[in-house]
Amino acid sequence: ARTAVLDRRARPLRDLRISVIDACNFRCPYCMPAERVPERHGTDAGARLSFDEIERAARGFVRAGVGKLRLTGGEPLLRRNLPDLVARLSALPGVEDLALTTNGALLDRQARALREAGLHRLTVSLDSLDPARFAAMSGGRGALRDVLRGIAAAEEAGFRRIKFNVVVRRGVNEDDALAIAAHFRGSSHVVRFIEYMDVGTCNEWRREEVVPSRELRDRIHARWPLRAVDRSYRGEVAERHVYADGEGEVGFVSAVTAPFCGDCHRARLSADGQLYTCLFASRGHALRPFLQGDDAALDARIAAVWAARTDRYSELRGRGAGARPIEMFLIGG
Ligand code: GTP
Ligand code: 5AD
Ligand code: SF4
Ligand code: SF4
Repeated sequence: ARTAVLDRRARPLRDLRISVIDACNFRCPYCMPAERVPERHGTDAGARLSFDEIERAARGFVRAGVGKLRLTGGEPLLRRNLPDLVARLSALPGVEDLALTTNGALLDRQARALREAGLHRLTVSLDSLDPARFAAMSGGRGALRDVLRGIAAAEEAGFRRIKFNVVVRRGVNEDDALAIAAHFRGSSHVVRFIEYMDVGTCNEWRREEVVPSRELRDRIHARWPLRAVDRSYRGEVAERHVYADGEGEVGFVSAVTAPFCGDCHRARLSADGQLYTCLFASRGHALRPFLQGDDAALDARIAAVWAARTDRYSELRGRGAGARPIEMFLIGG
């Protein structure tokens, strides 16, 4: 039976994002710039949560009210045998939604296995459709054609409604936004434009580089009229819009100009077994010691951590800035 745990701002726990690995084959400058993040970094393979531990954690979160799981990284497709984990999680009673966020470079080879293992939904990061700019935005590690091949493989495998995450930076890829919108207009997929955020400690974020969603929306609207539509569930991060001519949907994630902490139902589990209650948390809460077999102890731990939660970083941004935040690539966005 499910027991709703509320945090100190009366927010229930609904959504768990599980980082399966903190390594990445890209070095996106806004996330883990190569000059700041060494080749070998983060958690050794042996120190990562095992699939048994992840499954045990997921069961505990489902008992605490979570119905939605998202696998992230780093780059989750670098984790060995990921489809085995997907199969275990998708089979759990109470898991209504199982999604994965990937940079798409390795999707070509894995899309079918992931689908067959029961993955419901896929989100692919895609910051540009220009090969040179794409390469630059992946820190010189990614090739656009590999990602496009991966997307095609995912469509063939049966992912009908893929979400594309586009992080927009002023003067870097703002022109790509319209091209990306144009590319997916008329498809069943959904493009979401994300305001560049001050995550982690590596990207030397400046507010001037944020393109406010409102501005981007107006630009797209001028070309193809848009109509706002209701959120599909409470606490949804993206503001949804459809093209007035029926050619599909786009979304905007406005964590800088319109923070959505008030309804934030998300917990994050890092590959090394720390539980984070905010994307900008400066510390995690060890969960691994509670993944050894005693369900009651795990349930109590999850409830205690969530009950103490007060996070609302995006609403406070700049003010009340505390200790150094966690790196986004450790908890997968
Ligand atoms: P759906 O389940 O499809 O609605 O997914 P989602 O909107 O949770 O998707 P996704 O994880 O792709 O989130 C999109 C982007 O929004 C992420 O890459 C982050 O950049 C940002 N984001 C997601 N969750 C949070 C959050 O809790 N806080 C902040 N500040 N940003 C977030
Ligand atoms: N601001 C906004 N989004 C970011 N992401 C990574 N770094 C940032 C940032 N600084 C996004 C990626 C990916 C998801 C995991 O997080 O583009 O879609
Ligand atoms: Fe890797 Fe994603 Fe971070 Fe880019 S944004 S470096 S693909 S984890
Ligand atoms: Fe949730 Fe923290 Fe993001 Fe606010 S800043 S929406 S509390 S993860």
